[in-house]
Amino acid sequence: KIESTLRPQMLEDYIGQMKAKETLKIYIEAAKARKEPLDHVLFYGPPGLGKTTLAGIIANEMGVHLKVTSGPAIEKPGEMAAILNNLQEGDVLFVDEIHRLNRQVEEVLYPAMEDFAIDIVIGKGAGARSIRLELPKFTLVGATTRAGMLTAPLRDRFGVVHRLEFYSDEELKTIILRSASVLDVEIEPKGALEIARRSRGTPRLANRLLKRVRDFAQVKYDGVITEEVAGYALDLLEVDRYGLDYLDRNILLTMIEKFGGKPVGLDTLAAAIGEDAGTLEDVYEPYLLKNGFLQRTPKGRVATEQAYHHLGIAFPQT
Ligand code: ADE
Repeated sequence: KIESTLRPQMLEDYIGQMKAKETLKIYIEAAKARKEPLDHVLFYGPPGLGKTTLAGIIANEMGVHLKVTSGPAIEKPGEMAAILNNLQEGDVLFVDEIHRLNRQVEEVLYPAMEDFAIDIVIGKGAGARSIRLELPKFTLVGATTRAGMLTAPLRDRFGVVHRLEFYSDEELKTIILRSASVLDVEIEPKGALEIARRSRGTPRLANRLLKRVRDFAQVKYDGVITEEVAGYALDLLEVDRYGLDYLDRNILLTMIEKFGGKPVGLDTLAAAIGEDAGTLEDVYEPYLLKNGFLQRTPKGRVATEQAYHHLGIAFPQT
């Protein structure tokens, strides 16, 4: 699978996220020297920044298996208990979208994370008693787009917490050059930088755009990804100079035109563009916020002067 070979397998091949990388390197080395599993790790931040990749790298570096699941996939406490019980000593369990675990399932995790045990209740009412089942020691790696949505008892049980950041253009350029070499496609550094600039600071998007640009280079040009091919293909894909796509621009346009540039609430805005409010907040808003296209005020979201300029709309003078 191409998708998986584009992911770096070891820490030294992982580009960007310097802080997470440097500290994880120490924790992994220390845990290995003590012959203990790594402490539980929580990654949070916008999608596509490498949470799953890092979980895989942790497992590889520790020399253990990786078991992958997600919050919505586990519906019953018994399912979580079975997953935990089937792990081997030291394994990494990756739970994506961990904020979406239901309450009862989450409660299985508390003793599992703290004592590597689960409590099974037998019987009902006055005669009920619980027996403790010992589990193999393991590392839970949790990922969420919204750290604020985790309950305090769950959040507190992670020994290591990292917020993943958007990547710089230079970091993305390096990732794109690496991916191009994995995919065996010829690319000029300026072509890589052009794709990087339009990838919203997100490696997943950079790799996706690289594959689309490759198609154009192959069919319309001589197969080499140059700055020109990249620009031509990304214009056609409606990814603009700041990496904003159709939906990003629609969000800003809606704020400016439908709501007259006045502060608008998240739910109102989501309804107007026909998106789920959670998706708007977790997926689209972070990049617009970070790059100064959108601001959060006590009264709601507003488009910034830069957003008006970018869309070619006159900024109202007050
Ligand atoms: N591919 C996707 N994300 C990457 C990263 N952070 N480093 C290297 N290659 C990647």
